[in-house]
Amino acid sequence: MTGHQSLSLADAANLSRAPIDVTAVLDHLIQEADAAAATSIGFPGAVDLDYAEVMTRLGNRLWNNIGDPADLGGVAHTRVLERAVIAWVADTLAMPRDDRWGYVTTGGTEGNLSALYTAHHRHPTARIYYSTAAHYSLPKIVRMLGARGVVVNADASGEMDYAHLAAQVGRRRRWPAIVVATAGTTLTEAVDDTTSIRAVLDGHQANGHLHVDAALSGIPLALDGRLRLDDDSGISSIAISGHKFLGVPTPCGVVLIRDSARHTASRVTYTATLDTTITGSRCGLAAALLWHTIATHGHEGHRWRATQARRLAAYTVDQLNAAGWPAWRHPHAFTVVLPTPPEQVRKKWLLATDGATSHLICMPGVTHGQVDAFVADLTAIAPPRPIPRPWQRPHHQTKTHESC
Ligand SMILES: Cc1ncc(COP(=O)(O)O)c(C=O)c1O
Repeated sequence: MTGHQSLSLADAANLSRAPIDVTAVLDHLIQEADAAAATSIGFPGAVDLDYAEVMTRLGNRLWNNIGDPADLGGVAHTRVLERAVIAWVADTLAMPRDDRWGYVTTGGTEGNLSALYTAHHRHPTARIYYSTAAHYSLPKIVRMLGARGVVVNADASGEMDYAHLAAQVGRRRRWPAIVVATAGTTLTEAVDDTTSIRAVLDGHQANGHLHVDAALSGIPLALDGRLRLDDDSGISSIAISGHKFLGVPTPCGVVLIRDSARHTASRVTYTATLDTTITGSRCGLAAALLWHTIATHGHEGHRWRATQARRLAAYTVDQLNAAGWPAWRHPHAFTVVLPTPPEQVRKKWLLATDGATSHLICMPGVTHGQVDAFVADLTAIAPPRPIPRPWQRPHHQTKTHESC
């Protein structure tokens, strides 16, 4: 393979057969990513932060935080930074200092798995409740754990239907309940009300575990003081993605679990650490990247980023409405929901689509210029027939996929 013109990455076999122009392949990947970035407004990765200092200085070594981050034994690598990240996120969420534990994960999915594995270990007969708007990792994790899942309706705005949750929990009083609330659903960024969920659990005396999947919105809502894991919250665990709001350039995340909700783990002689995490080897570079953005921006810097992104989302809704496109957003959200545009627009702007509805996400780093260009593309085609706002529509009539 020589010049960029003739380079095709479509056939993986080409890429493992000598002679290979490695530089050309890497350049090609970068060019493709750069070209896509200009119109990439459908997925929730912030692109405003600069991680070059960490990548340049640490990017060429192995940083492997094997074992429990609180463990001082074994190979330290970046575990001291990992502990700082856990402390910062837990403090931001007002989690009690004497009842917290966590680690840097590969992402929101591993965080959900770790928390639900812990909850299920303590309550092996529990039913796991999650809404129709929950992330696709939830049913998969329920299957992995060999647990029984119960799907709860969500309304058209993506928020859990608490009356339906109460009915579902009420039908299964014999078994403990593990409930997954979502703080920032994948499609509409709806936030389930953990106070209402806690009231359902307390009302039915269905002891168990309340987990929050806060992949996207965990940090911004915590910075607002709207998501707290203090004693009054009744929340036992939370999972957050690191490559979404914090824009870390490698998939990662944080899971936090109340110490009192955990079970004991075994000590591994060979690594000289406690085996408390889902994976054995763990990415110490991710911990360093997360620590870097916390250390360089702090609470104020990240709060400012969230405010700017929400302002852009509000502007986007106004512009789309003015162009005849009935867009809407939740007041806290970066996500703007609109009727699904024609394919050429969807594909160009990499919109996330679910049938008649699509979204774009005004993550930090998305610009007014990108929004204006997107709105101009939509203005060039006929606007759709108005669709009712979620609060004017009937609730989803979703089937309950319960296994008991
Ligand atoms: C609500 C929600 N939970 C979990 C995840 C999974 O996060 P990750 O991709 O970090 O595993 C996502 C990702 O989009 C999500 O939107």
